[in-house]
Amino acid sequence: MSSSVEQVEPQSKYKLGFTTLEDEIAMSDLPVKGTVPTWLSGTLVRNGPAKFEVGTQSYRHWFDGFAMLHHFSFKDGRVGYANKFLESNAYKTAKETGKISFSEFATDPCRSIFSRIQTAFSPKASDNANVNVTRLGNRFLAMTEIPVPIEFDPETLKTAGVYDSPNRVPGQLTTAHPHYDFERREAYNYITHMARQSSYNVYRIPSGSEKEELVSSQPASEPSYMHSFGLSENYVILAEYPLVMQPLELMVHGKPFAENLHWKPERGTNFVVIDKRDGKLVGTYHGAAFFAFHHVNAFEKGDDLIVDIIGYNDSSIIRALYLDVLRGESPTDIPMGELRRYMIHLKGGEAEYVVLSKEGPELPRINYKKFNGKEYRYVYATGSSGPRAFADELLKIDVQKASSKVWSEPDCYPGEAVFISRPSALAEDDGLVLSIVLDAKAANSFLLILDATTFTEVARAVVPHHIPFGLHGQYYETTTKSL
Ligand SMILES: [Fe+2]
Repeated sequence: MSSSVEQVEPQSKYKLGFTTLEDEIAMSDLPVKGTVPTWLSGTLVRNGPAKFEVGTQSYRHWFDGFAMLHHFSFKDGRVGYANKFLESNAYKTAKETGKISFSEFATDPCRSIFSRIQTAFSPKASDNANVNVTRLGNRFLAMTEIPVPIEFDPETLKTAGVYDSPNRVPGQLTTAHPHYDFERREAYNYITHMARQSSYNVYRIPSGSEKEELVSSQPASEPSYMHSFGLSENYVILAEYPLVMQPLELMVHGKPFAENLHWKPERGTNFVVIDKRDGKLVGTYHGAAFFAFHHVNAFEKGDDLIVDIIGYNDSSIIRALYLDVLRGESPTDIPMGELRRYMIHLKGGEAEYVVLSKEGPELPRINYKKFNGKEYRYVYATGSSGPRAFADELLKIDVQKASSKVWSEPDCYPGEAVFISRPSALAEDDGLVLSIVLDAKAANSFLLILDATTFTEVARAVVPHHIPFGLHGQYYETTTKSL
């Protein structure tokens, strides 16, 4: 390196994004630069970890922090903002006792073995739902991978309490990435049931109902850690990475969840394809070992099933997201994912892939409502200019032309890019992209609004504090009517 400026570890620049935010505020008008289109009328609700210490104790991993909800409301070109901690039992207990009392993804509060078993496998499991939000009829739910969603009011962000489904499919580990089939009007998810004979239980929730209906139960002797799954027109796709759990070990060994995950590359990655019409296993298709958090999309072409996914060569990305690494205290390169297209021949054969982009995307989004499960063209994602830069770019990737557009600004670190279709849009990319960006130099965040077609800035609304890097969010045209 040639200058003193370049010698600064990049981590120190974006560290603020992994720093606790205590303030809870509500503002009806954020200062706006540019012009917010008046057709943008709705609410973006975002979720993510925002508090990483309790008393003198600290959480260890990005995914451990207490959930904070943020909303950005849009009306007549104006932007309102509010943020509030999710009042989960884990958060309330920490506030009352000044101690970490529940086991999170990579932090264990050192309880006795008996309490730990209770923590991992009972309704008292940590309900710190910091990953995503979803809508079930008129209910808004914050979600994590422990199946204890928390209901909240999208307008005030006040916590209503733990949501209890009237009919729950059994299991202990689910995804915060449910799918919605707009043609069948059904939500889909799966839950891993850990027992003497463990299984992946795929279920649906028909529109208008809150009851989970079991679609298929597939045996899993060593269940895989799968953060999301794919949904095509007819199939549910579980990419069973060789990052596996041994349920008994999870119950008795007393290590945090993340340390019970074992990388067994000799297993390869198996794509488990289930027909959602009758729940039957179509097949299990073997591929070389890889790991992923996020499916991007999946669609069918004759006897082929195309599964797009952000793949990593191994599971080292999980280690790279510990806070000591991200804050630069023990800096290391952060592995970059690849946008891979897996081709599965449903009549048999090995699952092979091609790489669709030279960029290293994460937190992928698409024009979900019109193109999930269908052949599509555009992926919106965060990107990284280098292995120690974290996410310092936004990407629009054209998977058909293998080209991309990039938005970036010095010292700015964007989060998930949420696509919003313009009313009556015809083109797939006719709309806006919303992303919360950390401005490390100004020590605050702003909501960036890009034109999705040109990928250039339309407007930004400046927030008076920094927003810790979040995970996922959803945009709702209305928060008062059902889907
Ligand atoms: Fe995710």
